[in-house]
Amino acid sequence: KDQEQADLLTLYADSTKLYQHVLLNTTAGEAALDYLHQRGLDDETIKTFGIGFAPPKQLLLDFFKEHQIDYQLLRQSGLFIENQAGELRDRFVDRVLFPIKDASGRVIAFSGRILKKSPDEPKYLNSPETKLFNKRSVLFNFDLARGAIRQRKSVVLFEGFMDVIAAYRAGIQNGVASMGTSLTNEQIYMLERVTDQLYICYDSDMPGQKATDRALKLLSGNSRLKLGVLQMPDGMDPDEYLRSAGAEKFVQVFEAGKQTPTAFEMQYLRRDLNLQNTQDQLTYIGAVLQQLSALSSNVEQDLYLNQLVQEFGLDKEDLRQQLRSLVGQQT
Ligand code: UTP
Ligand code: MN
Ligand code: MN
Ligand code: MN
Ligand code: MN
Repeated sequence: KDQEQADLLTLYADSTKLYQHVLLNTTAGEAALDYLHQRGLDDETIKTFGIGFAPPKQLLLDFFKEHQIDYQLLRQSGLFIENQAGELRDRFVDRVLFPIKDASGRVIAFSGRILKKSPDEPKYLNSPETKLFNKRSVLFNFDLARGAIRQRKSVVLFEGFMDVIAAYRAGIQNGVASMGTSLTNEQIYMLERVTDQLYICYDSDMPGQKATDRALKLLSGNSRLKLGVLQMPDGMDPDEYLRSAGAEKFVQVFEAGKQTPTAFEMQYLRRDLNLQNTQDQLTYIGAVLQQLSALSSNVEQDLYLNQLVQEFGLDKEDLRQQLRSLVGQQT
């Protein structure tokens, strides 16, 4: 029903305003504002992304009750948790809130970050699925990034909110985030409609590299996007790297650090191999040739074959022959 949809959107718009007011203008928001300042966000950035704060004492329920909002609507909004007796309480308490928007920039969900790490609570708490929010078909920041994606003829895919925001501050505004989960076909379709070049810029820690490997495999099978990989140094995520190295070095990774999927995979394959060991060498070379057999460009194949020749002192004709036999197996 269209009316219900409109009412939910209004509820989310009002909540966003209220949460931001608490963050920017009240003593209840001071600690959270300080936290964000310490993470390098100024007030302008906070406003651009609509960031807010849900205080430790619940806020929304009383506010909406005062405004006589319908109980069923509140129940369906995902903004509250319901107990056995049907009583509601605020879902988000004591968390910094990142609004999640649809492609037209309307807030349809929140993700709340805890201020201090806690072993028994998730770092980010998300809205549940609702009539507005279908997690699979949303990309964080798609609304703001769309213009820049068209302009730069590429999109950068990050893991998290703070990575998108960090890049945005550094002038890289064509970034979106899949919000931790693995990329869905719906999200790929959204991106394909606005660009043909995608760079994966996940965290360079081990989970991030694993996710990059998975995303490359998914994308090369399910999309026509041209792919590249960007990795921050030293296992950092983009937000960490921007803060530790500064904007200039950060931007340089985007300008000079683009890897082909094959270069990334070759590096990823080495992660737990000891290439001084002959057995591991054979494993590695076999796996690389397997990768290369899927490439359509002979020039690109040649480039990596040369690298194997150089590194392991092999005969190029032998490698070629083995590669040809792999290609033969696939058809
Ligand atoms: P990360 O664990 O890399 O967090 O998860 P982060 O983005 O670096 O967070 P900060 O910098 O400590 O604030 C990447 C993304 O995965 C989702 C969030 O979207 C997060 O930005 N995530 C992570 C969740 O949804 N829930 C979690 O508990 C953790
Ligand atoms: Mn401050
Ligand atoms: Mn991560
Ligand atoms: Mn991270
Ligand atoms: Mn981070």
